[in-house]
Amino acid sequence: MSLENKTIVVTGAAGGMGRATVDMLLKAGANVVACDLNTDSLETYQSFKNFLSFAGNLVDEHTVTEVFQKAHQKFGSIDGLANIAGIAQSAAPIDEVSLEQYDLIMNVNMKMVFLTCREAAKYMKKQKRGKIVNIGSVAATRPRPGLQSYVASKGAVESFTKALALELAEHHINANVLHPGPADTSMLAKFTKAGGDVQSTRKEVFESSVPLGRLIQPEDIARSVKFLLSDEAEMITGAVLHVDGGRNI
Ligand SMILES: NC(=O)c1ccc[n+]([C@@H]2O[C@H](COP(=O)([O-])OP(=O)(O)OC[C@H]3O[C@@H](n4cnc5c(N)ncnc54)[C@H](O)[C@@H]3O)[C@@H](O)[C@H]2O)c1
Repeated sequence: MSLENKTIVVTGAAGGMGRATVDMLLKAGANVVACDLNTDSLETYQSFKNFLSFAGNLVDEHTVTEVFQKAHQKFGSIDGLANIAGIAQSAAPIDEVSLEQYDLIMNVNMKMVFLTCREAAKYMKKQKRGKIVNIGSVAATRPRPGLQSYVASKGAVESFTKALALELAEHHINANVLHPGPADTSMLAKFTKAGGDVQSTRKEVFESSVPLGRLIQPEDIARSVKFLLSDEAEMITGAVLHVDGGRNI
């Protein structure tokens, strides 16, 4: 599965799944444009010729435009977009969730996906090819109590991606959604309710909910993202791929 000379924009690149994806895509020969609020932790890749980092808030329209402009200027094409950035919700009953919290979750998890896909589509349509992978969550398929706003944002990502797959098919652009199960990254702790015990929630709520018996590792996600970005996935579009050890069943 070579991605030689393909230019892939990765959002959330400094996070758990993002970093594993950046690493795997670079090893597969891709040009990687790594975007996150802060990219200091990606310093080790700065000397690579096929690496470009971009620190900025991707909820901002102008920032997103600039990312794609710079990526195109440096590498000459936009072949893929892996939308991995996202934020969690601390589990809480709906009557305790402020409008500000709801808006923030929707903005980061859905508006950012809209903005980046819109920008990617402009380039991909001209090239008549491209692959988009949006990260949702198994929570959209099988919600947990107290995560209503997060679940809604990821459900929106799924519907949006399917709509995009249909709309962009005539331009030979594939769009798929990947739903991770509970994953071993720093985000997992953030789903714990305020005052809850992080370690026991991790074990008793999350780990025990995965039929295959362990948390999802960032590399499990990275491998599937890489596959969906590759030519091997040429006829896959509008698909919902759960990488969740069976949690969605
Ligand atoms: N960890 C889990 O258990 C789990 C389960 C299902 C789905 N997911 C989803 O997987 C994706 C990756 O999660 P992760 O576990 O790697 O989390 P993470 O917190 O390690 O990484 C998320 C990254 O997104 C970045 N980000 C957040 N807001 C941003 C913004 N406005 N602009 C640019 N970057 C921004 C963060 O800085 C962070 O580096 C997320 O979309 C998450 O919702 C995670």
